[in-house]
This record gives sequence, C-alpha cells and structure tokens, in this order.
Amino acid sequence: MVKPVARLFQTPEKNIMAEIGKTASLMENVIDLSIGDPDMTTPKPLIDATTQAMLNGKTHYTASNGDLEYLQAIVNFHNQKFSSNYKLENVRATDGASHATDLAFGALLDPEDEVIIFSPYFSPYKVQVEQFHATPVFVTCKEEHNFEPQKEDIEAAITSKTKVILVNSPNNPTGAVYDKSTLQDIADLAEKYDLYLIADEVYWPYVFNNHEFTPLENMAPGRTLVTGSLSKVFAMTGFRIGYLLGPTAVVDAAGLLNEGVAYTAPSMAQSAGSYGLQNERSLSAPLQDEFGKRLAYLGEELNRLSWAKTIPVAGSIYLFLDISGSGMDDVQFSDYLLEKAGILVIPGQAFGQAGKGFIRIAATQGMDQLQKAVDGFKKLDFSKH
Ligand SMILES: Cc1ncc(COP(=O)(O)O)c(C=O)c1O
Repeated sequence: MVKPVARLFQTPEKNIMAEIGKTASLMENVIDLSIGDPDMTTPKPLIDATTQAMLNGKTHYTASNGDLEYLQAIVNFHNQKFSSNYKLENVRATDGASHATDLAFGALLDPEDEVIIFSPYFSPYKVQVEQFHATPVFVTCKEEHNFEPQKEDIEAAITSKTKVILVNSPNNPTGAVYDKSTLQDIADLAEKYDLYLIADEVYWPYVFNNHEFTPLENMAPGRTLVTGSLSKVFAMTGFRIGYLLGPTAVVDAAGLLNEGVAYTAPSMAQSAGSYGLQNERSLSAPLQDEFGKRLAYLGEELNRLSWAKTIPVAGSIYLFLDISGSGMDDVQFSDYLLEKAGILVIPGQAFGQAGKGFIRIAATQGMDQLQKAVDGFKKLDFSKH
C-alpha cells in the first residue's frame, strides 16, 4: 500500500466536461463549441517574430522575472493604453494568466483565508484557492443583473477572513462586462475592508455592443493584481505567455514561489509577447471583429428559439444561453444536443451552481460551422421530453 495523494484530490468532483468530451471523441463530425481556444492561427507576424527570436538565440532561460524587453513592453502597454503608472518592479512574466493567478494566490493566501469569487466562474479558480488551504466563497451573479455582482451581495460575503476578491471581466463563462460603477463598488469595498483584488482580464479587447472595457488596475492600485494573458488577445494560447502586474511586495513574493514552479516564461514566447504588445491594435482588431460578428449572429439566431433566451453579448468569446425553457437541466441538454445535433458545448454547472440552466457556447469555430450549429439547434424538439 502506498499513501494516497493529497486530500484535496482524493475525492475529485464529477468532471462533467470530461464525460461529455469522452462521448464526443467517439463521434464523427462533431461541431466543437466547447473549448475557449480561438480557432484562428496565431497572426503570422507573431509567428515570424518568434522564429526570428529563436534564430537570434532566444532559446534559453531568461531572468526569472522575465526578459527585460518583454517586461518593458508590458509596462509601456498598460501605462499608455490604460493610463496606469507601472514600473518594471511591478511586473513578472508568467506562463499565461492561469499561472499568474496561481502565483498571485500563492503570494497572498494563508490557510483559512477566504477568496470571494463571482459565480458562474472560470472553473480552475476553485482548486487554485484550495491548494493553498484557503476557502473560495462564491457570490452569485444573476442574469437579471446582466451577470454583474451586486454590492450588497459582495459586502454580505465579506468576513474577517476575506483576503481577496477575484474579478473576471469580460467574464468567462457569462460574457458579462462589468460596468465602471460595479468595478468602483468592488474597489471601494476592497479599500473599506482592506482586501486585495485580482483582476483576470484575459478577454479585455473582446467587448461588443457599445460596452467598454474598464481596467480595474487604477481604481485601487496599491491592492490590485492584474493577471494578464496574450492567449486570447492574439490567438496564441499554445505559447503560454502572460504576466502578473501589481504591488512590488506581492510580485516579489510570487517570484519566490515561482522559483520552484516554472522559474520563468518561455523566452521565445516572451519575444512574441513583446512584438504583440508593441503592435497590439493591428494584430488584435481582426480577431475582435470576428468574434463580435460570430457572437452577434449566434445571439440573434438562438434568441429566436422559443426555448432559449440570451441577453445581448457584452464581451468575451462566449455566449451563455439560458436553456431552462427546454425543460431539461443543462447537463441533460448538453448530452441531448450532442446526441441529436452533434454539437459539443459546456453545461453551465461546470462553472458552479449559479450556471445551472445555462450552456456555454464558445464561438471558436468559423461562420460556416456556426451556421451548421444554428441549424442543429433549430431542429431540436423538446415536445417529447
Ligand atoms: C477567465 C480566464 N482566465 C484565465 C484563462 C487562462 O488563460 P491563459 O491561457 O493565459 O493561462 C482562461 C482561459 O480560458 C480564462 O477563460
């Protein structure tokens, strides 16, 4: 007998997504709208910049906090684009935003601390908190509030143990883009109760229908950590490149933790990141337009169905569809959708209890596939259920 793995992983929760994914892998011609990975190839100038960087020798470790050029590009980008006031000591290169979030939690959390997470939520957050023996506290965001958290609900969830509020806008999975006043409420609560904020802003360019992205970083700068990612901004998920920005003491502590985790980020991906941030508008605008078009199409078509309901998409690359009118729960619905129409989506409850009754549709396929998907949705018949 060998001793078991850590208690946290001994009785894993049911992995709804893995089960549906397994069924889908046995089927042919499935329209996969499950994965939050832009289908577009990374823009060629970025690939060229990476290749050139490798030919120039960027194949080694960089300094543990990152390559100076990349760090400067991040600082310049945020200071110019969002009128922030960062210096090099506020930034660290990471292997994507998930790594940055992980380091931020590790740098901040002691056992028994609590982290407020708005639900539905990007599912990895829960374990990211629990691995440090801290406790996630979920605050439900409702469709009737456009999935934005309400100040009184957040305040009711704050206790003497609360250390961090995690904010993800534009939001995965709901597509909510938090209004400036909502973010100001959150920042005010952070000041009032002496809390840190972690701002996961990986979808920041993806805002539609006159919504505006408001960066949280300047509302409570001394207590806000931004977990940045180039994965979605430039369709470069496989490069594993992102960053952590925030107060120097926290960024330094994250560095100590990262010495034994990833040490630094891939050097050629950092070069790609520098190029990307220096040319952000021209590289990201076509992706943003394309996702805007796709989501508008899906929203309009699916809203026509008697059993489906969605609010106009504000942001992100996802549509969060209320399917409760079908008479099925979201897991049953997703199974049925796969079986009858060959369409793979994620049931809302994979993003927490608050996601029940919804499905998340990732617009990560071209228009031709989305048209086929819409036809498939239209053919569903719930009269026999
Ligand atoms: C809200 C959110 N945060 C973080 C990530 C991870 O991003 P990265 O590829 O930079 O680790 C994702 C990926 O889907 C996401 O949806």
